[in-house]
Amino acid sequence: MAKKIIIDCDPGQDDAVALLLAFASPDELELLGITTVCGNVPLALTQRNARMICDIGGQQHVPVFAGCAEPLQRKLQTAEAIHGPTGINGIDVFEPQTPLQNKHAADFIIDTLLAADAASITLVPTGPLTNIATAINKEPAILSRIERIVLMGGAMREGGNCTPSAEFNIFVDPQAADIVFRCGRPITAMGLDVTHQVLSTRDRVARIRALGNAVAIATADMLSFFDRYDTLKYASEGAPLHDPCTIAWLLRPDLFVARDCNISIETQSELTMGHTAIDFWHVTDRPANATWIYGVDAPGFYEFLISRLARFGRSA
Ligand code: BDR
Ligand code: CA
Repeated sequence: MAKKIIIDCDPGQDDAVALLLAFASPDELELLGITTVCGNVPLALTQRNARMICDIGGQQHVPVFAGCAEPLQRKLQTAEAIHGPTGINGIDVFEPQTPLQNKHAADFIIDTLLAADAASITLVPTGPLTNIATAINKEPAILSRIERIVLMGGAMREGGNCTPSAEFNIFVDPQAADIVFRCGRPITAMGLDVTHQVLSTRDRVARIRALGNAVAIATADMLSFFDRYDTLKYASEGAPLHDPCTIAWLLRPDLFVARDCNISIETQSELTMGHTAIDFWHVTDRPANATWIYGVDAPGFYEFLISRLARFGRSA
């Protein structure tokens, strides 16, 4: 039976590829809905971008919701320097046919979970955790329905990507991340330690483009833009493909290396705000609350991603 998932995202080129990978995997994943949050760009753009990706992937029937336009307590920090002013530079923006649902994303999460069996729905957040924390705060009864939360966020050995200490998704809303990491449900966290191993090299992007279908070409166009900032910053061969690691882990956990440990969020210090304190060596008595993913078979990841993107050609 396909695993029921809700993707909570802030597209974002890498969020977009995560959505496309999920679209390409209907036998394993039943996508109940896409909830959008402010993050890489303001909410008005992330919800529009998510609907564009539904159009591009031929998934106009998937319900898309807009959620929180501001973090719980802090002022929104966006990331146009990385993603471009549209959030999804690399492809031309258009007004999508996929409609925006008339319900707040947090209420969609609450209503869907309350109607579900215990431990039956997996949440996949690939942006700041504001919508998820808002839903938990508003209706804690949803917690028992969550099978697992598979999120992109955090950093240990890599250090931060927007401050020396913090990864972007956690930094934008550390109070929300704190609520999520203390919620008591199983969590899988994909941080920079693993996503920085998954590089969209020119060769890999060329292989995606060579698939020749419209989705693959849009993916290659997005990744070609996404490349510019990170390759300069890290002097790497390509940009890290952060968010698709979440969906890839659900589909192919064998590609990843994991360790259960405690992850706690810094919410007090301005200097290290949003830092993920990861007890990788179990040097505290804080109980494990997450599975921290820190290694990946990157060539295997790209073989898998390319094989899934090839499916769009078959159905077109
Ligand atoms: C995360 O921040 C965003 O810019 C990306 O979409 C990803 O979710 C990486 O730190
Ligand atoms: Ca994201």
